[in-house]
Amino acid sequence: MTTSHLDPASLHSSLRDPVLGSIGFLNEVMARYPDAISFAPGAPYPGFLDGIDTERYTRRFLEHLADEQRLGPVKARRLLFEYGPSRGLINGVVAGALRRDHGIDAAPETLVITVGAQEALFLVLRALFPTSAEQLAVAVPCFPGVVGAARLLGIGLVGVRETADGIDLDALEAACRAARHAGRPIRACYVAPDFANPGGSRMSPESRHQLLRLATREDFLLLEDNVYGFTAASGAGLPPLKALDSEQRVIHIGTFAKVCFPGARVGYVVADQPVGARRTLADELAALKSMVTVNTSPLAQAVIGGMLLEHGGSLARLGRAKSALYQRNLTLLCAALERHLGAGEATGVTWNRPEGGFFVRVNLPVPANEALLEISAARHGVLWTPMSHFHLDDTGDTQLRLSCSYLDTEEIETGVSRFAAFLTQEIGS
Ligand SMILES: Cc1ncc(COP(=O)(O)O)c(C=O)c1O
Repeated sequence: MTTSHLDPASLHSSLRDPVLGSIGFLNEVMARYPDAISFAPGAPYPGFLDGIDTERYTRRFLEHLADEQRLGPVKARRLLFEYGPSRGLINGVVAGALRRDHGIDAAPETLVITVGAQEALFLVLRALFPTSAEQLAVAVPCFPGVVGAARLLGIGLVGVRETADGIDLDALEAACRAARHAGRPIRACYVAPDFANPGGSRMSPESRHQLLRLATREDFLLLEDNVYGFTAASGAGLPPLKALDSEQRVIHIGTFAKVCFPGARVGYVVADQPVGARRTLADELAALKSMVTVNTSPLAQAVIGGMLLEHGGSLARLGRAKSALYQRNLTLLCAALERHLGAGEATGVTWNRPEGGFFVRVNLPVPANEALLEISAARHGVLWTPMSHFHLDDTGDTQLRLSCSYLDTEEIETGVSRFAAFLTQEIGS
């Protein structure tokens, strides 16, 4: 019997792109050093996953569904076990929360409930880039999910540096002009205005308005990723771009992975842009979705819908306790860095102090590469993410990312003390 051996070169070229290996690489290092304290995962705090009463939430959503659609309990329950509409089942509840909490005024039918924010990114990119004639601008360092989706779809990327105030608007304007002159204009720009992953930047209100004006001037669409907006300190939330968007230039993407739980795999996209005379971008995304995942699991949607309803249909109320814990962890992480490394300048190690999100960006005086991570893990029992994973090419980087979401108080303290020992002993700072 012969084995059909596949030549890697005979498979899609994106499979050889390093970005596809970035998550696997970190999982592999974590598996090899199970006792290490890991500042790598951007996953929610595991303590939040205990005691999620899926039955209660499902019941709560079923009552709502029976009421909203005037269905008997049997018919309502069946909806959870059947194939569902590609557009989703909880659109009304999510649209209500976006209006209440974020000032986003979107009709339920202009939302698509997706398999996490990742599917939303993929569908939007598929729809917006019919050919490779146009390009996607991204702030660098960039979330690998966007880079990976673009690579799978053969979409050209233009990296624009990120400042503490989000994407550098002058650099973006220059990139738009250069791309247009080169005959491959920028069709859309991906940004995460509230606490970007991995850089932790947050756009000021003024920068948000400037970005919208730039999008009008240069005629591109904005893909807004709002995964970490809920982590803002109480009373310090800023309006998302979509709430400021008077031209329907913004496609808004969110997820329940961090504010509820990631195993649900429920996210959403607001795509109210008209397409032709009678359709919207949401209609097109739902059509695409019907050929990718068909529909997002109705059971998972029911649990998430029920969780939202139990919190008065408010994303802010749903996220309040979690946001407080992430704020606490971020403060602890920055305070521990200060305690162990001083103000930074003397050691050549510096870091930012984000106002929210999961991540702190640390600058080293040497390349923060995979070889250095191996030393950190083997000799000091502490893991972090090399920032090179978030670049568009394989250029080295002297930065690394520390995530505080997955650890408890004690682990943060011990982890930073190990991290400081690693820096002192291995890079001589
Ligand atoms: C910035 C950003 N966008 C999107 C996602 C993907 O979210 P989901 O798990 O809902 O697919 C993540 C996940 O960590 C993220 O950090």
